[in-house]
Amino acid sequence: MAAGGKTVDKELEKHINRVIFTEAEIKERIAEAGRMISEKYAGKPLLLVSILNGAFIFMADLCRAVTIPCEVGFMCARSYYDGTVSSGEVTITKDLSQDISGYHVVIAEDIIDTGRTLAAVVEKLRERRPLSLEVITLLDKPSRRVVDFKADMSLFTIPDYFVVGYGLDCGEKYRNLPYIAEYRAD
Ligand code: IMP
Ligand code: MG
Repeated sequence: MAAGGKTVDKELEKHINRVIFTEAEIKERIAEAGRMISEKYAGKPLLLVSILNGAFIFMADLCRAVTIPCEVGFMCARSYYDGTVSSGEVTITKDLSQDISGYHVVIAEDIIDTGRTLAAVVEKLRERRPLSLEVITLLDKPSRRVVDFKADMSLFTIPDYFVVGYGLDCGEKYRNLPYIAEYRAD
């Protein structure tokens, strides 16, 4: 036990450099995004699409901040296989089960880094002719872009940090942290 009564985990102490966005800050931005979506799509067929695994927590909170009826769908796209290095290739390993042609689609993504993942996902979904398509990302690292891609809404813009928590991983770990933190390698 450390001062303040909180248990300090040795691994977390070593790898979590500092908290960048607290639970409260994230909650506030998601509430704004939820309001924006609810106003924009009121009375329209809305499908929120989340890219797994990273966006699962963002999606869970975003869909509950949306106050109009909507459906949810999940896709799995992988561009990072391990650790902090991008493979450069994007594979869709799980696709949506819905026909999206009758929906306004809002993609909820965890982070845009090189832009490759979303460029590939958006291209694939546009071919299916949704009524409209927009992208909301929790985090955006514009300085890392290798393909020209811009989200319609970015909740937080960050410099070139590798971050974990709130769904984001490093080697599949740390997704369960309730905040977003800068990761420190050994
Ligand atoms: P992109 O295709 O390079 O834009 O990468 C998008 C994916 O890379 C995200 O969905 C994340 O899974 C992963 N990624 C990029 N930057 C980070 C980071 O700082 N922390 C954890 N995962 C990241
Ligand atoms: Mg990842």
